[in-house]
Amino acid sequence: MRFPSTRLRRNRRTAWSRELVRESRLHVTDLIWPTFVIEGTDQQVPVPSMPGVHRLSIDHLLRQAERAATLGIPAIAVFPVLESGTKTEDGREAWNEDNLICRAVRALKQEVPEIGVICDVALDPFTSHGQDGIVVDGIILNDETIDALCKQSLAQARAGCDVIAPSDMMDGRIGAIRAALDADGQQDAQILAYSAKYASAFYGPFRDAVGSKAALGAADKRTYQQDPGNGDEALREVGLDIDEGADMVMVKPGMPYLDIVWRVKERFQMPTMVYQVSGEYAMLHAAAQNGWLDGEKVMLESLMGFKRAGADGILTYAALEVAESL
Ligand code: PBG
Repeated sequence: MRFPSTRLRRNRRTAWSRELVRESRLHVTDLIWPTFVIEGTDQQVPVPSMPGVHRLSIDHLLRQAERAATLGIPAIAVFPVLESGTKTEDGREAWNEDNLICRAVRALKQEVPEIGVICDVALDPFTSHGQDGIVVDGIILNDETIDALCKQSLAQARAGCDVIAPSDMMDGRIGAIRAALDADGQQDAQILAYSAKYASAFYGPFRDAVGSKAALGAADKRTYQQDPGNGDEALREVGLDIDEGADMVMVKPGMPYLDIVWRVKERFQMPTMVYQVSGEYAMLHAAAQNGWLDGEKVMLESLMGFKRAGADGILTYAALEVAESL
């Protein structure tokens, strides 16, 4: 009988040893918590396709942000849910300096100043058609949309938003937004570019939550979001956003695109975020509700996968529950 000289199982034998040799770790400071804000007071409206997730009025958002800060979560992302009467063809409510998102940001920075606030830049919560940009004859116009996104970015930065996060995938928007912010004296506003954002069916529950699914109908976003078959193209997108001034970049969705997270981190060594999107959250929770998976364990394993792939930060709707279980 010949004994193997290398036995990888030796290091795995005891809990302390496994701890000692673990290469990736998940920490509460890796988490960014995406939230949905609605008008009114004392409102907590469940999102049916995202078990455990609620649309919160600003008073509740403040309370939950306080909880997140206490748990050590560094930042939250805030998405507005507008009543359909305020959505228009051009999404002009997006740059109203007193809109729901700007009021939420001002309240957050006043009441919970220690938590970072991230705001999406894209028109979809504000447009009657649910597209991220200005649409003429069925075409999403790139440069006209960028003008709108610059105005939206300025409104959010003036309200005190720390991180401007363009999620629209228009060409050239990072450079334009950086210039607009700088010209307005907002040199310190950070930009987190949703650089490699795919045209994904995993956004379904998010579109339920903000009401853009009904607005979109059978339309899709494939003329601006990336084709799921492309990896090299993601690197081109990320490279351009860095050249244009992005402070951090993002890959989205997460689990089906771990190879992209890895390649982006390897190539650019930039602060790299990954978004565990609504559909990923919904899948894990639905299976857990049925008793088919251990919800807590699969969530932690999924997030560990992001860390191992090289992500520096993870947007997850499970941030609070995960922070509590860490
Ligand atoms: C909007 C936006 C989307 C998400 C974040 N910002 C949806 C979309 O592009 O249709 C998706 C987030 C999620 O599914 O959790 N530009």
